[in-house]
Amino acid sequence: MRVCSLSLLDFRSYTETEVDFAAGLTAIVGPNGHGKTNLLEAVGFAAGLGSFRGATDAALIRDGAPSAVIRCSGLQDAERAILIEVELARARPNRVKVNQQPVARRRDLLGVLTATAFSPSDLELAKGEPAVRRRWMDDALAAVRPSWGALRSELDRILRQRNALLRQARGRAVGDVAVTLDVWDAKLAAVGDELRMRRRDLLAEMEPEIRRHYNHISEGQDEAGIMYVSSWDDRSLADALAAARAEDLRRSASTVGPHRDDVLLQIGGLPARSHASQGEQRSLALALRLAVDGEVRDRRGIEPVLLLDDVFSELDAGRAAALLETLPPGQRILTTASPVLPASIRPDQLIRVADGTAHVIARPDT
Ligand SMILES: Nc1ncnc2c1ncn2[C@@H]1O[C@H](COP(=O)(O)OP(=O)(O)O)[C@@H](O)[C@H]1O
Ligand SMILES: [Mg+2]
Repeated sequence: MRVCSLSLLDFRSYTETEVDFAAGLTAIVGPNGHGKTNLLEAVGFAAGLGSFRGATDAALIRDGAPSAVIRCSGLQDAERAILIEVELARARPNRVKVNQQPVARRRDLLGVLTATAFSPSDLELAKGEPAVRRRWMDDALAAVRPSWGALRSELDRILRQRNALLRQARGRAVGDVAVTLDVWDAKLAAVGDELRMRRRDLLAEMEPEIRRHYNHISEGQDEAGIMYVSSWDDRSLADALAAARAEDLRRSASTVGPHRDDVLLQIGGLPARSHASQGEQRSLALALRLAVDGEVRDRRGIEPVLLLDDVFSELDAGRAAALLETLPPGQRILTTASPVLPASIRPDQLIRVADGTAHVIARPDT
């Protein structure tokens, strides 16, 4: 996978800009707040990741503009060129095209140009709410096999309906309400059992890799531990839902299911959320992202583009060098606000961002 060029219209802080990317390592440099992350975010969006910093689509449209356009050309391999065009509009649905052909959903881009993004907000994977880790797992499933992405949207749809019905029932399921609740429970059980199984399998497969990456980045300081924690026991979800029905009716909420599960992360045997230092949490988050990236490479036989937002500035020199060493091969695009790049980073290309535009300034060392 390779991103060749990116052109933006009214995206974030950019009125209009266009840049070409080198095949190897590109460093995007410039002062804080000048649009480095915005540029990387646009590449991530074209790769189907949405905003890797979790922004809504509306926030991506330049303030005051009615719509934004991202046009990104790339190579899937030596032969297959791709052109991805996305139009984000405030007043109508987004339009997405691949090689001039409209595609229905943004998620479909995951199979077209694949990227792995590392961002400062990944810290939340280690220290944030369970929802952040559930999202990580479900995004990982979608990245590993794009059709699995549908499991999560199906789960969300069913939960909205079921919860609406529970509110409507006002604590008592009788007559039609009971019948309809049975129907939603059956749907929830089917999707929920499958989603938990896929998450558990994927996590089991990635666990040794997460530990290996963590060990490498932390230079062997402590062991990472990873465990799936489910909101129901080893029974089927259908049984668990039946057992929880009275409680669900009382609380007008769905108290068991994959939407209540979590991944317990530990460092040196202690919960990472409450006990790990910021540097440890950051290293763990990197290990989680790297493991998914490795899984995508193994299972799909492709090389995702690596997008690294401000990752090195947060690590000490030892960990920064270790991370760079552990990065898998392929195209890498990183941003940094530090005026001097760490000595271990030798980019093939520098892009300077200032005053609302991006310029390729140099291939250093030439
Ligand atoms: N929708 C938007 N419209 C206009 N400006 C925006 C929008 N979103 C972000 N910005 C501006 O972009 C800048 C931040 O860009 P960013 O890429 O995050 O900076 P950095 O170079 O530090 O990574 C801020 O000045 C912010 O005001
Ligand atoms: Mg930034």
